Amino acid sequence: MAKSALSFVCQNCGAAYNRWQGKCESCGEWNTLAEEDTGATTMPASIRSRRKGRPFALETLTGKTQDAPRLSSGMTELDRVTGGGFVRGSVLLVGGDPGIGKSTLLTQATSLLARAGHRAVYISGEEAVAQVRLRAERLGLADAPVQLAAQTSVEDIVATLSEGTVPRLVVIDSIQTMWTDTVESAPGTVTQVRASAQALIRFAKKSGAALILVGHVTKDGQIAGPRVVEHMVDAVLSFEGEGSQQFRILRAVKNRFGPTDEIGVFEMTGLGLREVSNPSELFLSERDLGSPGTAVFAGIEGTRPVLVELQALVAPTALGTPRRAVVGWDSNRLSMVLAVLEAHCGVKLSGYDVYFNVAGGLRINEPAADLAAAAALVSSLTNAQLPTDAVYFGEISLSGAVRPVAQTSARLKEAAKLGFGRAVLPESARGDIGGDAGLSLNTVAGLTTLVADIA
Ligand code: TYD
Ligand code: MG
Repeated sequence: MAKSALSFVCQNCGAAYNRWQGKCESCGEWNTLAEEDTGATTMPASIRSRRKGRPFALETLTGKTQDAPRLSSGMTELDRVTGGGFVRGSVLLVGGDPGIGKSTLLTQATSLLARAGHRAVYISGEEAVAQVRLRAERLGLADAPVQLAAQTSVEDIVATLSEGTVPRLVVIDSIQTMWTDTVESAPGTVTQVRASAQALIRFAKKSGAALILVGHVTKDGQIAGPRVVEHMVDAVLSFEGEGSQQFRILRAVKNRFGPTDEIGVFEMTGLGLREVSNPSELFLSERDLGSPGTAVFAGIEGTRPVLVELQALVAPTALGTPRRAVVGWDSNRLSMVLAVLEAHCGVKLSGYDVYFNVAGGLRINEPAADLAAAAALVSSLTNAQLPTDAVYFGEISLSGAVRPVAQTSARLKEAAKLGFGRAVLPESARGDIGGDAGLSLNTVAGLTTLVADIA
């Protein structure tokens, strides 16, 4: 008889212990351990010895393989993030806050594929079929021949999908609602999520259907359930945005078949998600022209230049320790820029609260934003408005020097295209500019030059 193994599993990271304890030693979280039947069985030796390994054929690396066959989703922004469409037999995990638009995005994607004549299946574990239909109706997609079901049993789902032609795309919304007979734990627990994901992934790899798993996100922004699901899938996409704003950004966190720095930009409208092919125009559309504390950053997201407004508010503090609040940027990066301004440029900021925001809900990861951030900060502090037709980019070093960044020409071209007249950029980037940049260039070697120019 196989003996089932009860153990205590951390609901945050999936680490298992045989005794309960208050803190998970693996991820450091408190009170995350729950008793689960992990389904691990101890087989008696008599059974074990009967199952002998069978040798398999090894292949050479130089063998011929077709290109990973890709299926375009019909949505350019989605294809951009996946790296050119869904790969046969690949598994994608889409994560995001509740209400951000995951179900909407995937309803649209399955409908477009179904309309193009592919078998596309949408399985909802959270909503009834009628609810999914209502949403499709609202999106104007009610005529698309998508196959729908409201089911949560993984065995039933796999059995159903194995009949008839192989689906090209299967959406499981969401993986936390799925359960499999093979383990005892309740749906939503780490063990269930892991086992359900495993069974569904096995189906995808065997049949060649592309599979999309929707994953919920915990308070601290991680995809709930075991991190192992992230390791099991081929790509992890994160759907982000500020709830109050209509912009949504799809970002690849991991991708075995494509780049991880591309973003897809969407706008949530009354008729579903609209693709935004020129994000700069959108991010700058609500620009607050003529107020101090704002600077336009010429950034690069993947292969695409994106212009975005950075906003700073520097105000005298009433607290012993001044506040530093950042949205859309790394708070360590902000601290660094503030420290450099204070240490090398004589800009006193220790008596001020600093609020920093990236407009449009975009998250910036590039160090190239340093110079634009510094310009916005100094502009707010001195109440001196920056020229409205200028863009900024450049990395700031701890010594206060302004360092060159990649893709100078692409940034300048986008700025010129959108009607900007000048760019403030690193002195050393001059060599990267071939011919006429299309706008006037104001190069700075150090942060002190920038501060002197503004004040
Ligand atoms: P949904 O796709 O259900 O989010 P998720 O699956 O990530 O939880 O989207 C829910 C939100 O989107 C809801 O607040 C309403 C809004 N929405 C629109 O604004 N327009 C639309 O056409 C649709 C379908 C939803
Ligand atoms: Mg949903």
